[in-house]
Amino acid sequence: MKIFKNKHNLQKEIFETKGISFVPTMGGLHKGHISLIKQSKKFKLKTLVSIFVNPKQFNKKSDYRSYPRNTNEDIKQLKKLKINYLYIPKYNDIYGFKPKKRVFLDKFSKKLCGKFRKGHFEGVLNVVNRFIEIIKPRNIFLGKKDYQQLYLIKQHIKKRKIETRIIECKTIRENNGIACSSRNSNLTKNQLKIASNIFYYLSGLKKKIKKNYNLFNFNKIKKDLIKLGATKIDYLENYNIKSFKKAKSPKEKFNLFVAYYIKNIRLIDNI
Ligand code: PAF
Repeated sequence: MKIFKNKHNLQKEIFETKGISFVPTMGGLHKGHISLIKQSKKFKLKTLVSIFVNPKQFNKKSDYRSYPRNTNEDIKQLKKLKINYLYIPKYNDIYGFKPKKRVFLDKFSKKLCGKFRKGHFEGVLNVVNRFIEIIKPRNIFLGKKDYQQLYLIKQHIKKRKIETRIIECKTIRENNGIACSSRNSNLTKNQLKIASNIFYYLSGLKKKIKKNYNLFNFNKIKKDLIKLGATKIDYLENYNIKSFKKAKSPKEKFNLFVAYYIKNIRLIDNI
């Protein structure tokens, strides 16, 4: 595994190859990332992983500061996975140039997480657009846990006619049901139990809603989540996962999208 901290050295190396499969991360690697990397390795191109905690996608400084960082452990794991390249850029390597393409921000960016984390998706698309210009990857692997992010990146790529394919990968869950996330490492044992109970409550609820749509009563569900131990709920909404419009009938393919806090730790999922 070759490690690069500078984009020019990285480009010299990767532009000689047949193409790159790219797995962008903010580090704090977990089973979800490992599954993305394993998918990428099936594609017969060289796999490049990046680790960059992008300050522009955090709407609170305290959240940026407390975001889990574990680069030495991450490097060990990536070596074991035998990826080809690891890119760990500094801020200026990413933000010290003007990208050729402008970011396209679909209006869906104003919903769900976009409503509660001002500037978050602008920050995500800004960094992803820059990574694409630096790496020119043939494929990018992204998880469905961050479904809204996945959708918005796809819309940007389509609108800006970028020749990169997005490979959507399924959400990986812990044995207790909760979606793998770097932020889980900030949860105590008791808080993990709360998150697990919330997952089982919501997956049971989805099954019930599929049979009887009238059960979708936001206020009641919100109260139940608080009883289960959530500190605050940002949103709980049912969206059609193809059209990204609110689902109006149980026949549609919908997911329950949720963002909630346990103390000051914000968790998202779609079930
Ligand atoms: O999903 C993430 O970890 C980040 O949002 C991404 C795509 C690496 C951009 O910083």
